[in-house]
Amino acid sequence: MTNRYPERTALAQRMSRLAREELRHFEQVRSIMDDMDIPFERLTASRYAGGLRKAMRQEEPYKLLDMLLIGALIEARSCERFARIAPRLPEKLGRFYGGLLASEARHFEHYVAFAKSECGVDEAEINARLEELKAIEASLISDPDDEFRFHSGAPAL
Ligand SMILES: [Fe+2]
Repeated sequence: MTNRYPERTALAQRMSRLAREELRHFEQVRSIMDDMDIPFERLTASRYAGGLRKAMRQEEPYKLLDMLLIGALIEARSCERFARIAPRLPEKLGRFYGGLLASEARHFEHYVAFAKSECGVDEAEINARLEELKAIEASLISDPDDEFRFHSGAPAL
């Protein structure tokens, strides 16, 4: 988003900060994996983000609006899943996941705020679109899924 909309100063700056925070999380996760002797393993992308991206409209300002709403949904779902996992982990790891959860909650709020301030679309239309995207998202996390990933659907047996 920083690359796509550099002329939108507030959005570009916020997304740049958000990207740095996510990269910092990547570094922390890699260190924890090394500490725990867990080798890095390359995984194929789950259907989740791609499935949501397919719903993104291509004409502006709806492209930006959809991108922001999809970002908000991904952050909210990540937050929910971290909240479920954190209490079941060893204490140190649980605390780390708890921190990720707080970040994702903040990111969700940034995406929603920008959806309202940057797109020039009225709030009723934003809410209606959010409901449509939520329905797509719900099927991606609940329909049978062959792959096991952080945002997978129900296991296909
Ligand atoms: Fe995030």
